[in-house]
Amino acid sequence: MLKTKIAVFVSGGGTNLQALIDAEKRGEIPNGEIALVLASNDTAYALTRAAENNIKSVVVKRKAFPSQEVYEEKMKEILNENSIEMIVLAGFMSLLSEDFTSFYPKRIVNIHPSLIPSFCGKGFYGLHVHEAALEYGVKVTGATVHYVNEIPDGGEIILQKAVEILEGDTPEVLQRRVMEEAEWVLLPKAVEMVAKKLQKGN
Ligand code: GRF
Repeated sequence: MLKTKIAVFVSGGGTNLQALIDAEKRGEIPNGEIALVLASNDTAYALTRAAENNIKSVVVKRKAFPSQEVYEEKMKEILNENSIEMIVLAGFMSLLSEDFTSFYPKRIVNIHPSLIPSFCGKGFYGLHVHEAALEYGVKVTGATVHYVNEIPDGGEIILQKAVEILEGDTPEVLQRRVMEEAEWVLLPKAVEMVAKKLQKGN
């Protein structure tokens, strides 16, 4: 069976990348194949996860390029060389321009650790998202997988899952619960859905 070739973009620990690798191994992403890991820095632990699983990886640092345009051209070139058809942003901290996102319409997905449209957009990344949820006092948060377009966290929603906030939660505790109960479950499911759709469309 043909599989959609996927690149996972990372910047940090890569637990979501790990969830995807594990799901693929369990046969839960039959329509997709993680063919490349692209990291925004060379210290990302996600690179070790890629190496341990024999997945090709590449580091592309924004600072190594004179402009956003040249940086993105380089990434496009790498994606093209590796026949990549779909991109998953899994904790990718480098910004992508509208030029880039519109070049891959409905082919880039992102995971965000809240129920969009709450606690999303500019400034809402990492622990800040969970700090804001606790500060507001919401009783339910969660994770969202969405398509990526020019609006930060504003593309069409693919899947969402709610997670309860408990008495005494710290941002760190909540972050971990959102990952365990929502992100690591949701992302592989959404990736399979999109990979499957792209197979049909091709
Ligand atoms: C996750 O919380 C994800 O939702 C957000 O960045 C974090 C990445 O964590 N976009 P990891 O690198 O996958 O462990």
